[in-house]
Amino acid sequence: MPTQAIFPVFDELIPRKEKERFLGQKARVIWMTGLSGSGKTTLAKALERKLIAAGFFSKLLDGDNVRSGINKGLSFSEEDREENIRRIAEVSRLFVEGGVICINSFVSPTKQIRSLVRSIIGSPDFVEVYINTPLEECERRDVKGLYKKARAGEIKEFTGISSPFEAPDYPHIEIKTEDRSIEECSDELFHKLTPLIRK
Ligand code: ADX
Repeated sequence: MPTQAIFPVFDELIPRKEKERFLGQKARVIWMTGLSGSGKTTLAKALERKLIAAGFFSKLLDGDNVRSGINKGLSFSEEDREENIRRIAEVSRLFVEGGVICINSFVSPTKQIRSLVRSIIGSPDFVEVYINTPLEECERRDVKGLYKKARAGEIKEFTGISSPFEAPDYPHIEIKTEDRSIEECSDELFHKLTPLIRK
């Protein structure tokens, strides 16, 4: 049977614990949720710099490297967003099994979607980070010009405008970005996160 041929391979894998010991860290999925333009990816990048400088090993996943690759062709319908996020959660789990800290920056707009993520990754490994930036501020920043297009009806199902965003009730970490610098916010995130990933 093909499955019998596959199982022994799993037995031979180097255990996650050994890899975490080697890397000197606890592998976790840092799941950053928030509106488009809230600063998720900017903070994820700044966080990754700080983590590497402090001796942690991580991998950053975001819409740009995932929606143009393995999730190419998925739309922003409720169904496709769920599939987008489900695949990302599965990929993150593989990273965590390899001892790597996985930093994820995705809108992941609903409680249901994020609860799916938690169920795939497993509660102890899942760290939910809410990048809390009010819609008005995201729209004012409008870095990619998408809010303007969404308001004009040129983009359908745009999160916060014509598609829902449900903020998490009890995120592990919440970062408010309005009127604060990237440095200040990423410092706060780094300091709140370190106790969760330090061996
Ligand atoms: S998610 O809802 O499936 O989690 P994801 O994080 O992958 O979304 O992608 C969101 C990014 O895609 C936004 O930051 C924005 O740049 C872009 N985007 C394009 N269309 C939409 C849309 N309809 N809703 C939200 N974001 C969109």
